[in-house]
Amino acid sequence: MREEERAKSMRALITGITGQDGALLAQLLLGKGYQVFGTYRRLSTPNFWRLQHLGILSKVSLVPADLIDLASLVEAIRVSDPDEVYNLAAQSFVGASFEQPIGSGEITGLGVTRLLEAIRQTKPSVRFYQASTSELYGLNGVEGTMQSEDTPFQPSSPYAIAKLSAYWTTRVYREGYDIFAANGILFNHESPIRGLEFVTRKVTNAVARIKLGLQDSLELGNMDAKRDWGYAPEYVQSMWLMLQQDEPGDFVIATGETHSVEELCEVAFRCAELRQENYVSVDKGLLRPIDVKCLCGDSSKAERVLGWSPKVKFAELVELMVDADLRRWKRWKEGETFPWDAVNYPDDVNVVSTMKNRGG
Ligand code: NAP
Ligand code: GDD
Repeated sequence: MREEERAKSMRALITGITGQDGALLAQLLLGKGYQVFGTYRRLSTPNFWRLQHLGILSKVSLVPADLIDLASLVEAIRVSDPDEVYNLAAQSFVGASFEQPIGSGEITGLGVTRLLEAIRQTKPSVRFYQASTSELYGLNGVEGTMQSEDTPFQPSSPYAIAKLSAYWTTRVYREGYDIFAANGILFNHESPIRGLEFVTRKVTNAVARIKLGLQDSLELGNMDAKRDWGYAPEYVQSMWLMLQQDEPGDFVIATGETHSVEELCEVAFRCAELRQENYVSVDKGLLRPIDVKCLCGDSSKAERVLGWSPKVKFAELVELMVDADLRRWKRWKEGETFPWDAVNYPDDVNVVSTMKNRGG
């Protein structure tokens, strides 16, 4: 069967379809002709804004499920009857994992065991993608080194520890039960629909608001941290490619460039013809108990085996995110309201916590 014909008969289940990657992957798979199912959690306020923003809400089938709840995962597999399962759901914010280490472990770690067990018991022939992360390298992420599939892991947050458990669980189900299970070890990837608490979007959103007179300062934590930031729509392609191989494997996905939070600010403010030193200050409350110093990925295996390589690099990424936020806030000033950002993150929200990472 030709590639496009095969894709048209394919069914995919995406956990975490309401998140950045879930929504972008859904868009990609729909474009290939897949029937796309996605899990969502029951919330007091529906959270489908990314799917709406991409114009795909009515094109996907939504299945209620929670990684905490095994029965809901079994049911999600039963009703979607998928060929491929992409596990993108997680408590994904590193800062929050220090405040809620047990909950993060339940969802981000043990949740993957629940999902793989649901697959093993109901449909072990599915191909499974696990959203692993460069945070696994943790304290091994130091200046002047690059991380590959062979670099030892040294996780340094409750989030990373949970993801390490999930990484190994994925390998155990691959090796022990012959399930086609792949780990994508993705480095940071961003887009205009990135959550506002992550540093790239926090900065680009603030730049746009400062430029338009809606905000006058920006407080950040560790300005020296360095990350390998790529463009999320390209990264979700690699997830799909991993599940199209003859054999399952683990792949680093990265740009191979690293930049500091300080540089991120410089570039982002410059995009709006502003100088960051006039607006940015450090709030010690936003520092994490431990922070990974420097991540820089070597994705040569992905290039060799998957034929994947990044196109959008740091400066272009920051510029496109600043542009998107400027457009969004200009429309807001002209009276247009959105079902997201402005409503969900009011300026005067009062979060009481010994750590500020949740809002940071
Ligand atoms: P995100 O925007 O925070 O999305 C996370 C998704 O998980 C949301 O749909 C969220 O649902 C869902 N979720 C949270 N708790 C859940 C639970 N208990 N049961 C079911 N669903 C739950 O994250 P992302 O940036 O798209 O990242 C996708 C995945 O890749 C995550 O596993 C993340 O850890 C991993 N990852 C991300 C990056 C990156 O740079 N983006 C890099 C490496 C790995 P709600 O909308 O209801 O909250
Ligand atoms: N969020 C945030 N807010 N981070 C800040 C701030 C701030 O005000 N100030 C400095 N930083 C620093 C953090 O301390 C960290 O060193 C860096 O900016 C990036 O932080 P995040 O954007 O929150 O991302 P992350 O690297 O911790 O985690 C993201 O990437 C991982 C892959 O490496 C998340 O997407 C994880 O889910 C993902 O696994």
